[in-house]
Amino acid sequence: MTDRFETLTVHAGAEPDPQTGAVVPAIQMSTTFKQDGVGGLRSGFEYGRSGNPTRRALEEAIAALEAATHGLAYASGRAATQNLLYLLEPGDRLLMSDDVYGGTWRLADKVWRRYGIETDAIDLRDLDAVAAAFASDRAPRMVWIETPSNPLLKIVDISAVARLAAVAGALTVVDNTFATPYLQQPLALGADLVLHSATKYLGGHSDVIGGLVATRSDELAERLRFHQNAAGAVPSPFDCFLVMRGLRTLAVRMERASQNAAMLAAWLAERPEVEQVHYPGLADHPARELVERQMRLPGAMLSLELRGGEEAARRLAGATRLFTLAESLGAVESLIEVPGPMTHASVADSPCAVPESLVRLSVGIEAGDDLRSDLEAAFGTLSS
Ligand SMILES: Cc1ncc(COP(=O)(O)O)c(C=O)c1O
Repeated sequence: MTDRFETLTVHAGAEPDPQTGAVVPAIQMSTTFKQDGVGGLRSGFEYGRSGNPTRRALEEAIAALEAATHGLAYASGRAATQNLLYLLEPGDRLLMSDDVYGGTWRLADKVWRRYGIETDAIDLRDLDAVAAAFASDRAPRMVWIETPSNPLLKIVDISAVARLAAVAGALTVVDNTFATPYLQQPLALGADLVLHSATKYLGGHSDVIGGLVATRSDELAERLRFHQNAAGAVPSPFDCFLVMRGLRTLAVRMERASQNAAMLAAWLAERPEVEQVHYPGLADHPARELVERQMRLPGAMLSLELRGGEEAARRLAGATRLFTLAESLGAVESLIEVPGPMTHASVADSPCAVPESLVRLSVGIEAGDDLRSDLEAAFGTLSS
């Protein structure tokens, strides 16, 4: 076909049905599949938990978009995370960004610790600290990168960390939820595994919960496929269909949302109420050169610290009209939230704790001027 991303988003996994000509993959609800004699499977399908045609279409699509050879779909981003952690053994250590989605830290710290897997959270931008962690006598077996990170938009050098991990025989995982494969392809940069909350940009419309993993390793894919079936946290065929539909417009949505975010970030940086804007596209972002090397565009997520502290953050988030006050991100509509008490409540008092005055914006594809006016009106309420 082609390896141009925009064409793949429309066509990967979505070839017209050879029998009917349907141009949209069918939602195949059957939970079981007729066998032609014991073990005589048609097209490899046996039972809906182990495989399903709609899910296969989505898994082929994410493999193509991440320049991988294998894709796996799960019931949520959490379920995908859980399945990657099954690659570890009791006694193994996990090294994680100190700025990650709160639920990832919670799963590692509150659940996996009980099963003998210790997690250390450090600033993975500090390559000396990463090298020291791998050189220690209890070197990590896996490093978990989130870049851009949630919610401080820190940028980690994927190639550099993956190189250090590979020398130490450890696996590199990148949570690519914020960037999407349109902006960044971690496997091409040396990562072993890439993960998505498909609930976000890939689904793109706030109407489906899902998780995806992609890899180039046959061995890892085989182990993951075993656990996908054994643990059973698989998505419904309808959910797979919705993510497939979202994928088809990923490139155009990312272009538009990133354009809006870049405009708003520059405008917010000049506001007197704002202490600091975290956006990888700003000229003074500490990793500007790395962003240009690693990402196609700086993306559509940004966060800002307000001079008025937590009180101002809560008031701003409650005063917008177009930006909806809600958790989640990555959809066509713009969202606003206060990470401390909302998405990142589970990391309070941990190494991943976030500033109290922080507001996070997920910038959508509305008219940029309308979004700016909405924020301007909300800022107006802070002084009253
Ligand atoms: C970066 C990131 N990774 C993973 C997840 C978890 O995904 P899900 O909510 O689909 O389980 C989230 C959810 O907000 C996220 O922001």
